[in-house]
Amino acid sequence: MDKKVAVVGAGNVGSTAAMRVAEKELADVVLLDILEGVPAGKALDLTEAAPVEKHDARITGVTGDYSEAKDSDVVIITAGIPRKPGMSRDDLLSTNMNIVGNVAGEIAAVAPGAILIIVSNPLDAMCHAALEASGFPKERVIGMAGVLDSARFRSFIAMELDVSVENTHAFVLGGHGDTMVPLPRYSTVAGIPITELMTPDRIEALVDRTRNGGAEIVGLLKTGSAYYAPASAAVEMAEAILKDKKKILPCAAYLQGEYGINDLYIGVPVKLGAKGVEEIIEIKLTEEEEKALRNSADAVQGLVDAMARLRG
Ligand code: NAI
Ligand code: 2OP
Repeated sequence: MDKKVAVVGAGNVGSTAAMRVAEKELADVVLLDILEGVPAGKALDLTEAAPVEKHDARITGVTGDYSEAKDSDVVIITAGIPRKPGMSRDDLLSTNMNIVGNVAGEIAAVAPGAILIIVSNPLDAMCHAALEASGFPKERVIGMAGVLDSARFRSFIAMELDVSVENTHAFVLGGHGDTMVPLPRYSTVAGIPITELMTPDRIEALVDRTRNGGAEIVGLLKTGSAYYAPASAAVEMAEAILKDKKKILPCAAYLQGEYGINDLYIGVPVKLGAKGVEEIIEIKLTEEEEKALRNSADAVQGLVDAMARLRG
């Protein structure tokens, strides 16, 4: 392949993302982890699936050797610890901020032109950690959450109305947490807003299920958090960048005045292309939606402030 994607963290999300990148023949893949043998083992296993899956992407796995990630076009950062039952995403802050900061610094040294897709939680705060440690421009440090949260909302809409998921469209903005902001007015089935197709009660139930979508999976799995849909979401973003698709997706982007929010990562619709975030799309919000986005921004700001305190 003429493109290269490094995936840092060869755990559940990372190895599934590596598999999807390879199977879509988007790029050669380098899997990196601190664990001995695991990235090499998973890379070899994926390589041995290639003849059956019919792709020619090269997959390598290494422990701690960032030189293998040299000149990567896109780097998906999933390193860190995931949630267990009873934990919120925010409980991961102090552990993951150090991990993500170290990883972003290592990547910046070997792949200074890369675009970083951050997955580790708490997502919006981890984007700040990666932006700071990499020294990259804000357009090249992007967080994955909105694509996942919107995909969950879309799945629930399709189940509710018994329609193809392909007919659904949804937007979930805000931080990746309990304050996220699903937008029913901008969520459609074959172009028809769901506000025309469902009662307010049913919409509220679906919105609620979306907000708790991560916790619902943690409650079922018990040993970790979701990874199939998160990996799909990260790879949709990587594909938009690698193919310069100019695709509009909800992503965590660094706002400087947009939506009246300053110097903060939060989920908004962006145009993703070869340069990363090529445009932040400002959609009209009602007073209530704006208030919800502001509330979500305050929650993210609280975590960013907590990181500053932890750093001392
Ligand atoms: P996992 O535990 O399966 O994998 C994490 C991997 O990171 C492990 O293999 C671990 O050894 C590795 N790791 C730890 N420190 C490292 C370091 N310094 N350098 C390289 N690798 C390191 O966890 P999973 O399920 O893959 O989740 C990964 C992260 O993504 C978690 O923080 C989770 O909360 C987050 N997540 C975020 C989502 C989102 O929507 N933004 C969705 C799903 C997960
Ligand atoms: C999720 O939403 C844990 O953030 C992860 O599934």
